[in-house]
This record gives sequence, structure tokens and C-alpha cells, in this order.
Amino acid sequence: MRATVASGTEAVASPAQPAPQHLLSLLATVAHELRGPLTALATSSELLAEDFVRLDPSQIKDMLGAMHRRTLWLQGLVENLLCAATIREGRLQLFCQSLGLADLLDDVKAVVGPILAQRGQRLRVRMSSELPEVLADSRRLGQVLINMILNASKFGALNTSIDVGVSARDGSVRVVVADRGPGVSMQQAEQLFEPYFRSTAATGREGVGLGLSIVKSIVEAHGGAVGVENRRGGGARFWFSIPTVRRTASAKSHLSLVS
Ligand SMILES: Nc1ncnc2c1ncn2[C@@H]1O[C@H](COP(=O)(O)OP(=O)(O)OP(=O)(O)O)[C@@H](O)[C@H]1O
Ligand SMILES: [Mg+2]
Repeated sequence: MRATVASGTEAVASPAQPAPQHLLSLLATVAHELRGPLTALATSSELLAEDFVRLDPSQIKDMLGAMHRRTLWLQGLVENLLCAATIREGRLQLFCQSLGLADLLDDVKAVVGPILAQRGQRLRVRMSSELPEVLADSRRLGQVLINMILNASKFGALNTSIDVGVSARDGSVRVVVADRGPGVSMQQAEQLFEPYFRSTAATGREGVGLGLSIVKSIVEAHGGAVGVENRRGGGARFWFSIPTVRRTASAKSHLSLVS
């Protein structure tokens, strides 16, 4: 391929460098993750278009519900991939404002609800009364909650509850997401938050291994902390805490993270 440079001299583009192996395997994993829901979307939309008049309203509703769930899932994957790239390049920016966790959880429920419903799971939220607000980026903190709750759904057993607890402690708000899945190996507790690390529990389950690393980066950018422990009676309890910082004058702040 030939390229003309601005000065008017002609230059020959250098041959493309082969992509490193880890990049190729990441691309293969991502492509694999995209293929399933995309195939299902193509099939359902084709069926709807061709058989619309023959389908009854409840069938149409079910199909549209399934298409909606797959679209939400694809959106989450794309959001995580973009966020991981932003973090890696040290470009994560937080647009913080005073935020109530109750309102944020309402928004998050609308996103995760259909996905949980498909596994017969329901979200049970317990909140301390009079929770202080946090200074946080609502979009990013929402992404943290979505990643944690979707993990709880993916690894949690069918037809169980996913319990979200929100409490205030020592100048922080702490959020715990607990499931009834296999739990985690405590020897791997820190590795779980590293990009692309997946334990044997993840074998055969969809995912790239990015969700928890994004959770950790976003929470730490807010000055908070993350962790995991096993739950009595079985299952995992992933948690994060965010300081309830008081700021004066400009309630809105603009923080940049250099990772
Ligand atoms: N609730 C959970 N119970 C048991 N293991 C978990 C749970 N959440 C996460 N893990 C373990 O931590 C690993 C990393 O989680 P992470 O969210 O980063 O990746 P993923 O869910 O596998 O993929 P992605 O989030 O990119 O879709 C998982 O693969 C799994 O091994
Ligand atoms: Mg995940």
C-alpha cells in the first residue's frame, strides 16, 4: 500500500507488524463472546420479520425480551472493553457529584433485572437508613455495581437471591454483593481483581476476565477499596467501599486518574 505524506513526497507504508500473541488470543476471546449473542439476535430478528403475523403477542413479547437481554449483555461487554483500554492508557476520568446509592441502585436494577430474571434470580437490597451520599461518578459506579451483580448472577445458582447490602462505616459507604455460588479460593483473592484472570469456576461460563479489574480501578480512583470473602452457608461476598468525602463550594469535581 502506498501513502502520500503532507509534504508531497511519496512514502511506502511499512509492512504491518504481526500482532503479539496475547492480543490475538484476546481478540479471539472477544470475538467468541460476541458471536453467541449476535447469532441469537440475527436469528430472532429474522424470525420476527418473517413470521410476525403468525406469532401471537406473548411469543413476540418473549422474543423481544430475550433480544433486549442480549443487547444489554453486549452493551456491558463493550463498555468494559472501552473502559479497560481507557484505564490502561491512564485516561480514566471521573466526573464526580454527590450521589445517593439508593438512586444508583434503582438505575442498575433496570439493567440487570432482565438478565437475573432469566436465571430465576432476584435482587434483594438492604440499606441502612440515613445513608450519607458519596462523591462519585454515577456512570462508573453504576458499572462497578453491574459488574459485581452480573458476576453474582453468573456464578450464583439458579433461582437464588443476590443480596446487596449498603451500609455506612468509618467515613465510607460499603456495598456488599453476596451470592449462592461456589465461592472463591482465598489464595486467589487478589488475582481475581487482575485483568484477564479467571479461576476454574469460570470454565464454560461466558466472560473475558475484565469485570473485576475494572471494578478495582474505578473504586480505587474514587479513593476506595475492594475485597472478597466467602459467605457462611456457601457463596461469595464481594465488597467495595467509597469514602463519603465532604467537599465545599463546587459540588461537582473533575478528577483524573493516572493508573
Ligand atoms: N461471584 C463470584 N463467585 C465465584 N467466582 C467469581 C465471582 N465473581 C468473579 N469470580 C471469579 O473471578 C474471575 C474474574 O472475574 P471478572 O468479573 O473479572 O471476569 P469474568 O466475569 O470471568 O469475565 P467478564 O467480567 O469480563 O465478563 C472470574 O472469572 C471468576 O473466576
Ligand atoms: Mg465479570
